[in-house]
Amino acid sequence: MKNDIQSILVSEEELKRKVTEVGKRITEDYRGKELVIVGVLKGSVVFLADLIRCIDLPLSIDFMAVSSYGSSTSSTGAVKILKDLDMPVEGKDVLIVEDILDSGMTLSYIMNLMVVKKTASIRLCTLLDKPDRRRVPITPNYACFTIPNEFVVGYGLDYDERYRNLPYIGVLSREVYE
Ligand code: IMP
Ligand code: MG
Repeated sequence: MKNDIQSILVSEEELKRKVTEVGKRITEDYRGKELVIVGVLKGSVVFLADLIRCIDLPLSIDFMAVSSYGSSTSSTGAVKILKDLDMPVEGKDVLIVEDILDSGMTLSYIMNLMVVKKTASIRLCTLLDKPDRRRVPITPNYACFTIPNEFVVGYGLDYDERYRNLPYIGVLSREVYE
């Protein structure tokens, strides 16, 4: 598995430091509120698990699963809901947690869906931001790392369902998908 990684983009230590920092910011920003964290399956699970332990507030978590049609390394923009939220979020302060903001298609779809669900507020926290690839104007409220236009895996991110368990973020060698 490690042989498929061309280089390490974000180390375990950097991840820990930044996730702790973002968790503290979220704690300050939502003080006095009751937060609902919505993770987008499956890529966000590792990040979400670490992040919630750095947020010192009463909170609940819920998950959504969506599929975006397209090739394995880029999406076409068509999004389908595979799993909706378990709990109602009307009137709640919702923070969406995602692994990576790429074209922005998936997240703009999810953000619009939260408007329909009449949440009190809606913000976006992404582990990685790839602004070069944006096709929909969407800016994260919290982003841990802004990265260049490379296909990355690890810390929850996959290629063809693999590599999610790598403890760091690595650039996948082109030979793996070309
Ligand atoms: P978007 O709709 O184009 O913003 O795509 C977002 C989704 O594409 C993410 O939730 C990831 O599942 C996937 N994705 C985009 N870039 C990468 C990457 O570099 N590595 C792994 N998955 C990626
Ligand atoms: Mg994926």
